[in-house]
Amino acid sequence: MSQTVVKNISLLVTNNPSLGKTELGLIENAALLIEDGKISWVGAGESAPTGEKTIDAAGKAVIPGFVDSHNHLIFAKDRAAEFSARMKGEAYSAGGIATTVAATRSASDDDLLANATRLVHEGLHSGTTTVEIKSGYGLTVKDEIRSLDIAKQLTDETTFLGAHVVPSEYQGKADEYVELICEQMITQVKPYAKWIDVFCDKGAFTTEQARKILLAGKAAGLLPRLHANQLAQGDGIALGVEVGAASVDHISHFNNDDIELLKKSKTVATFLPAAEFSTRSNYPDARRMIEAGVTVALASDCNPGSSYTTNMPFVIALAVREMFFTPEQALWSATKGGALALQRDDVGHLSVGSRADFVILKESSYIHLAYRPGVNLIDEVWQHGKRI
Ligand code: NIG
Ligand code: FE
Repeated sequence: MSQTVVKNISLLVTNNPSLGKTELGLIENAALLIEDGKISWVGAGESAPTGEKTIDAAGKAVIPGFVDSHNHLIFAKDRAAEFSARMKGEAYSAGGIATTVAATRSASDDDLLANATRLVHEGLHSGTTTVEIKSGYGLTVKDEIRSLDIAKQLTDETTFLGAHVVPSEYQGKADEYVELICEQMITQVKPYAKWIDVFCDKGAFTTEQARKILLAGKAAGLLPRLHANQLAQGDGIALGVEVGAASVDHISHFNNDDIELLKKSKTVATFLPAAEFSTRSNYPDARRMIEAGVTVALASDCNPGSSYTTNMPFVIALAVREMFFTPEQALWSATKGGALALQRDDVGHLSVGSRADFVILKESSYIHLAYRPGVNLIDEVWQHGKRI
């Protein structure tokens, strides 16, 4: 049984309030013991046990690995020209997804896997140790199955998003496409997917269509989550709460009724500030949700259209500057919040028995993640107890 001690940690964020101060469970001058890929001891450095191997964190801060709970990584080609046009004044619309659907359908399995692997590694090197991946650029039975088959090779957190947009061959026949999803796709993608998601928004699927799809998915054993209110205020948040979604994501628009519904539910509110950044949209005031007591997560939404980044420190910096998170709330939301959005209790915190997924920063405090935006502050990333 191999044991590794990480010592000389100036500030350890455990996200376990029973282990240290505040919601972040902060321990100063801390140490960690890793055994068989898991944390087996956490506490003050002076009482740390010895291990076969010792890692010196040299007075740096250690945080849990980021849990990035919302991504679209199975696609081909980028949409740099669309981004450029947007920066010249064009608006973002759901319609751009069709460009990526065409490129993805004509790509080989190897190319799709290579691209998604590249992005997972990019995220891992910036501290993301758990990643969710959606389908949604295939939109045929065959292409959705192969997207999820590829996603499953990279993560257990796979999401069927056949209801991303209505594909061109079903234009004007949206209800027929909804039927294809409910009658054929769901049963055939089931072996490859844990979650089911719908883009419930202006230009995508209506609340009624989304309800039908989520309920059919639930009946087949898939767990619901939802893209809601990215482009316009609608009933997406209410629908998410109604079907018991693990999370409602984007929520760039919300009202007081939405806050009340979320407060009373177990549904997590996931904010994606890099999407607001890349679509030059107004940032929602997440502080209102947090102060009302809603559980909040942060994710990157990596995709070639609305948010082409895998970098969670960038997401944290945006959330703090533009959505009124405190640095503490942003770090918690990008780690523990993401874990709750994926209904996982083994990641997002550093407690005895949790996965030994953590990041040694180059600075002595996590505050620098927002305070020094755009600077690589990731010194070492550890996943399953191994340095990557
Ligand atoms: O989460 N909102 C819907 N889907 C993606 C965008 C996909 C695209 O533009 O290609 C998102 O932002
Ligand atoms: Fe998304």
